[in-house]
Amino acid sequence: MTKILFVCLGNICRSPSAEAVMKAFVEQENLQDKIFIDSAGISGWHIGQSADARMQKHAANRNFYLTSRARQFDPNTDFEEFDYIIAMDYENMRDLRSMDSRNIYKDKLHMMTEFNTKIPADIVPDPYYGGADGFENVLDILEDACNGLLQKIKSNTQ
Ligand code: 4NP
Repeated sequence: MTKILFVCLGNICRSPSAEAVMKAFVEQENLQDKIFIDSAGISGWHIGQSADARMQKHAANRNFYLTSRARQFDPNTDFEEFDYIIAMDYENMRDLRSMDSRNIYKDKLHMMTEFNTKIPADIVPDPYYGGADGFENVLDILEDACNGLLQKIKSNTQ
């Protein structure tokens, strides 16, 4: 079993979308028994909340359904449990690194955009304070990255 955790700041826009896109791709290939997917936020601001309504609407237009509730990243359990811990932007990565105080999980930490094959983005930009374009951009980048991530995991486990 390969375990993937997507991490953003609030766990109500980018990482729950990454979770939904990746779950859809994994189910299309019938790999749900081999790949486990979750998401979490660096902050605890939105714990227990559904994903942002704007994000849900844009995702649903592409047939991705955001059903998770926000939770906060837990350094005491999540570093150990997951194989891939994937940050949406440099701040998320910096915060994850600072919680890995003994620098023992660094090989598990990745930027989401490392897995892109089509869109040359450095980060998945925070859409929270912007307009509709920002949410579409998030989904464009996530679809590309999730596809690349799935190909990588498949090639590693063959
Ligand atoms: P996310 O977006 O990190 O993609 O879930 C945000 C959600 C909420 C806030 C910031 C970013 N906030 O400031 O509450």
